[in-house]
Amino acid sequence: MKTTAETTGTVLSGARLATMRKGGTAYGLVDNGALAVGGDGRIAWCGPAEELPTDFSAWPSRDLGGRLVTPGLIDCHTHIVHGGNRAREFEMRLEGASYEEIARAGGGIVSTVTATRAASEDELVASALPRLDTLIAEGVTTLEVKSGYGLTVADEIKMLAAARRLGRERPIRIVTTYLGAHAVPADYKGRQGAFIDEVVLPGLDAAHAAGLVDAVDGFCEGIAFSTEEMARVFDRATALGLPVKLHAEQLSDLGGAALAARYAALSADHLEYLSQTGIDAMAKAGTVAVLLPGAFYTLRETQLPPVAALRRAGVPIALATDCNPGTSPLTSLLLTLNMAATLFRMTPEEALAGVTREAARALGLAADLGTLEAGRIADLAVWNIDEPAELSYRIGFNPLHERIFGIPS
Ligand code: NIG
Ligand code: FE
Repeated sequence: MKTTAETTGTVLSGARLATMRKGGTAYGLVDNGALAVGGDGRIAWCGPAEELPTDFSAWPSRDLGGRLVTPGLIDCHTHIVHGGNRAREFEMRLEGASYEEIARAGGGIVSTVTATRAASEDELVASALPRLDTLIAEGVTTLEVKSGYGLTVADEIKMLAAARRLGRERPIRIVTTYLGAHAVPADYKGRQGAFIDEVVLPGLDAAHAAGLVDAVDGFCEGIAFSTEEMARVFDRATALGLPVKLHAEQLSDLGGAALAARYAALSADHLEYLSQTGIDAMAKAGTVAVLLPGAFYTLRETQLPPVAALRRAGVPIALATDCNPGTSPLTSLLLTLNMAATLFRMTPEEALAGVTREAARALGLAADLGTLEAGRIADLAVWNIDEPAELSYRIGFNPLHERIFGIPS
């Protein structure tokens, strides 16, 4: 696609472009590249500087001094809106209690539910902003945020409204996911079916009617919901025209990924206990595997997600922080890259694709985001590094030079 010179915009020159387009050079690298961003905030042209069409030569241009430019980073799985924290639970786990034991004893997700219900929408926004700012400082331009700590119709809506507000408080694209089927609250213990009938489904209808839902998720696990229960939620999502995704195979193999694939899910997430049957189903459906090394690390999990088998089957792999107070109190997508490389043996190129191209796909936004090419939204990260592998290689170091959200100045 080519935009004519009638549209004004900005040319960014002197850039080493990691376009993350598939099928060409590693990282889709273009040395001495240029990128023309139109007044609509989309990439009008992108490629080697000497091939820049003359149409764009009248546009104001800015030299990036040879810096590396990547697509803006995408964190495609977070629970960043929540009340309180679980530092005490962290101590208990260090003393020997398991995540499942704590959950069954009324701690875990349910304790965050209590804190989230007690917080106002304003308080949820205020407590999420410092976490959000930490991600933004690393070049994150799109963030997915899940509900799931309210577990009443009103509290789920409060969480989603707080999530949407983050996108008005800061220059960031927010994608919201309804996670009403995250845990069974104390008053519904032993009555999971009633919880789905009385809270999860009506909550989904109401949140959707309020325009607060972009996708629907659930936690399919022994301590949460069965595949049959999740199918009921997915049936409703499908009837509403909403895409689905699923927390699947995190602690055991219940066949959640295969269920998600039956509903053409955008993604199945976690996946440490994923079987070959699940992998094959995901490959067939085009469902993205979202791996969450922060949760793997925090839970001191030893079962690795089947990265090599996913690769062999051609399942796209995305990465995310899973930022949440229990299993992944992580607000660094760069550290996530490092963990994916070191713990999961993903290549730095796969890791970067996992927070750009494949993360966009996990959110159903591949046509707009995730690669540097004409027509895509110009969300960019400009880095003070030479080699893209440095993004995975360093630990606790942030080389971001500039983050461009839509229209460069
Ligand atoms: O993605 N697995 C379920 N949900 C979260 C954990 C939430 C919590 O423990 O508060 C996760 O790991
Ligand atoms: Fe999660």
